[in-house]
Amino acid sequence: MNKPNETRYRERIWQTYQEHVRSGQPVCLLGIETSCDETSAAVVEDGTKILSNVIASQAEIHKRFGGVVPEVASRRHVENITLTIEEALRLANKKLDDIAAIAVTYGPGLVGALLVGIAAAKAISFARGIPLIGVHHIAGHIYANRLVTELSFPLVALVVSGGHTELVLMREHGKYEILGQTRDDAAGEAYDKVARALSLPYPGGPHIDRLAQEGTPSIPLPRAWLEPDSFDFSFSGLKSAVLNTLHNASQRGETIPPADLAASFQASVVEVLVEKTVRAAIQVKARQVLLAGGVAANQALREQLSARCQAEGLPLVIPPLSLCTDNAAMIAAAGYISYRQGKFASLDLNGIPGLALTDVAE
Ligand code: KG4
Ligand code: ZN
Repeated sequence: MNKPNETRYRERIWQTYQEHVRSGQPVCLLGIETSCDETSAAVVEDGTKILSNVIASQAEIHKRFGGVVPEVASRRHVENITLTIEEALRLANKKLDDIAAIAVTYGPGLVGALLVGIAAAKAISFARGIPLIGVHHIAGHIYANRLVTELSFPLVALVVSGGHTELVLMREHGKYEILGQTRDDAAGEAYDKVARALSLPYPGGPHIDRLAQEGTPSIPLPRAWLEPDSFDFSFSGLKSAVLNTLHNASQRGETIPPADLAASFQASVVEVLVEKTVRAAIQVKARQVLLAGGVAANQALREQLSARCQAEGLPLVIPPLSLCTDNAAMIAAAGYISYRQGKFASLDLNGIPGLALTDVAE
């Protein structure tokens, strides 16, 4: 955009913001999320109250390919985005005039998918003079917890999704320090790969979770603790061990009960995730532990983290299942922090596939 237009846009945005702050009206944010295979739009009041949270999932479409096909995902986002936004406004009983700002995921994720949400958010922002906020997808997952309860700092968040496994320390709103992260596969990715080896449908996490409940963790599998003081994770060795176990059994003409293998794999993943999270929380004297991301839906992880946190006297927050997987309400909740600080994006906002969480902190 040329300079005079950009300047006029900025002035208009700033005016809208100041008018809204002066009015003392509740702050309704429109959230938009299209980083992977869910097209989602939501309206959230004051960063905590969900007025609507519409999620158009493409999981059924990608299932037959055994994973998300980026081109297909982008095309479906294009088809769904307008309808999803309209539906979110309708269910919230709001009009665009009632929206104080638009918060949109700008990374990490599939670039073609991110761009669909960003283009929609920019178009509305420009047409209506509504401030635009860029949100990091993982910050969104963390802020899903603020839709449940107020955050207390310092806190440690375990973020476990299809693309991420990170232990994040937060000492205040909107600032993130990475204590540890995966050196190879993300926890969700490991679940999906093991599920595939067991011929379970995509995404495999929920299927392994269910199957594991019918089995016993009787098959010895490795746990990657890494260096004694490390908060990093590694799941590729475990995934290979599962594949080797299956391969060796088939060469011997034996079959391994899939439920036992699922239970053994899950026991290994969950033990490492839980122990490192609790150790990190104790070390930083955390006042709260948060669980976030798609794998937070995992039953064993929820149960064991709850038990360990209770034993250590650490308050734990876990979002309901509907807020664990990708959704736009969590993006609006995270965007609200930027709104309060008057931190807005320009119309140059771009999708950044490898955006680091630490890049969003000042
Ligand atoms: O956060 P999310 O919806 O998308 C990403 O940002 O990646 O997470 C999706 C991941 C998938 O890998 C899926 O298999 C996993 O979360 N997942 C689970 C469960 N439900 C979803 N993994 C283990 N147990 C579950 N119950
Ligand atoms: Zn996610």
